[in-house]
Amino acid sequence: LEFVEAAPGMIVARISNAHAEATIALQGAHLMTFKPKGEADVIWMSPAAKLVVGKSIRGGVPVCWPWFGAHASESSFPAHGFARTVGWNVVDARPQPGGETQIVFELPASAMPKAQWPHACRVQLHINVGVKLTMDLVTDNTGDTAFPLGEALHTYFPISDVDNVRIAGLDGCTYRDKVTGMDLKQQSGDITIPSEVDRVYLDTEATCDIVDNGANRRIRIAKSGSRSTVVWNPWIEKAAKMGDFGSDTGYRTMLCVESANAVENVLTLAAGESHTLTVIYSNEAL
Ligand code: BG6
Repeated sequence: LEFVEAAPGMIVARISNAHAEATIALQGAHLMTFKPKGEADVIWMSPAAKLVVGKSIRGGVPVCWPWFGAHASESSFPAHGFARTVGWNVVDARPQPGGETQIVFELPASAMPKAQWPHACRVQLHINVGVKLTMDLVTDNTGDTAFPLGEALHTYFPISDVDNVRIAGLDGCTYRDKVTGMDLKQQSGDITIPSEVDRVYLDTEATCDIVDNGANRRIRIAKSGSRSTVVWNPWIEKAAKMGDFGSDTGYRTMLCVESANAVENVLTLAAGESHTLTVIYSNEAL
């Protein structure tokens, strides 16, 4: 484990062990890369991502917390919460008996703007770097009143091309379609990406597979403590507008499959209660 300054003010933890390599920015506890030894990258990072203090990073695993998307009532609050653009502390880092590396980040209370979040809590992200990548987002309500909790591990995955992939695991699920004004729809069969896709699948803890016939591989996304799965690809116009997807065709090489608690699945965390959202990402044989 070493810490390097990847850009002015942007400190990144670099992990390398017998199983895998990973890099994680202290800003946002934002995992940027994860690659099991001898295998392909499991995470997509935009070649045009800007590493700028206070700005979210395009790619990797943005931590959306304590709300997903727009804030429920205040449009001036940042999209996807404030956790992804502030510095987190490393509170523990140690090798595991099997050779994996565990690193624990904590969001300092001083980084939670009182005006946006007047609640007492502790938030940690535990990252385990092994053949698989495991991440636990743990929220403890340390106050004496309940609060609403929305969240997502907003993960970008690399794909050979949008035309070559399908996502298996959500057949029959209902979803909110953000492209058509949050209509409620039902998934039939696997998900394909023929145009812009921006959906919040509801009430599902299912494992999903990104099956990529162009790259001859399958990325497995297993989770717990997450009732929503968000699938997002911005397509050409929106990617061009955001301006940080690399080339004109950059959007074709990524797909977000996010493990979330969003919209109808926002949680209420009672005083003294703890909630953990866990994801496990791996390459699997096709
Ligand atoms: C997705 C949302 O999760 O994140 C999209 O469903 C949004 O609507 C996308 O555009 C990216 O958000 P941002 O703030 O990182 O550009």
